[in-house]
Amino acid sequence: MAINEIKKVGIIGAGTMGAGIAQVAALAGLEVIIFDLASEALKKGENQIKNNLAKGVEKGKLTVEDSVKALNRIVFTHSIRDLICDIIIEAVVEKLDVKIDILKQLEIQNDKECILATNTSSIPITKIASGLTRPEYLIGMHFFNPAHIMKLVEIIKGADTKEIVVEVVKNLSLSMGKTPVMVRDAPGFVVNRVARHFYVESLKVLEEGVADHESIDQLLESYGFKMGPFKLMDLIGVDTNHSVTQRMFESFYYDPKFRPSRIQQQKVDAGHWGRKTGKGFYEY
Ligand code: NAI
Repeated sequence: MAINEIKKVGIIGAGTMGAGIAQVAALAGLEVIIFDLASEALKKGENQIKNNLAKGVEKGKLTVEDSVKALNRIVFTHSIRDLICDIIIEAVVEKLDVKIDILKQLEIQNDKECILATNTSSIPITKIASGLTRPEYLIGMHFFNPAHIMKLVEIIKGADTKEIVVEVVKNLSLSMGKTPVMVRDAPGFVVNRVARHFYVESLKVLEEGVADHESIDQLLESYGFKMGPFKLMDLIGVDTNHSVTQRMFESFYYDPKFRPSRIQQQKVDAGHWGRKTGKGFYEY
């Protein structure tokens, strides 16, 4: 298999990450089909792509012609059966059973050499692969938020992932203008594992009343971080960030250093998920 054989990319989930990944794939000249169960999410994803492309034109980063061409390369669908592709990138909620169910369905309806990639932030690839018939074709392709801007993509090989699949996905990432970096399979891989403490410790500081969230953000930004932890959680999605911490806490055998926060749990319960719901630690 060669990179020039990858023509059609499927994306599952039109949320924060799926929409951004669809955009970069379309800009790279690939045919894209994006699926979401929720009509509202699909519409929101389409608007997110249109707005980002318009901003790109405004900033002189791409021409109107290129942005129109990219948009025309994307098909939005409610039917998973439409996803017959060369590679499918999964970007749905951070839940093992949901991811396995979807990937199993994709294995059945696609060619046996179709590559399945997961954008999971924290679940080991080998764990997801254990629920599949063709674990050799599953790989981790971990994009960062915002996906149309951040260059880094962690590429994670599961215990059974074929070498050719790794090569194809590395080349695909390069063709999307990304910087692929190989990491070993472990909960949270590298970036999320190290960065977890940025969120978890900041939430502990908040819980203990040492400072409020605005002050914590201001202090860390003054220290040199581009975004404070609470602004970043709102960008990521408070619900997604909390799920990732929960998965990592379990995966590291309940090591207290990954303990999730009650304050964050309450935000999740209240539907204060950050920018995507208009309210998180801040209001939008
Ligand atoms: P999100 O909550 O913004 O979007 C998830 C989308 O999946 C929603 O539109 C939802 O309707 C859809 N969905 C849920 N179940 C589905 C199903 N069974 N079939 C089809 N669509 C379904 O989530 P987000 O933030 O985009 O995260 C997606 C994945 O990407 C997660 O695994 C997350 O850990 C990972 N990730 C998230 C990052 C972030 O900063 N938000 C960064 C890197 C990875």
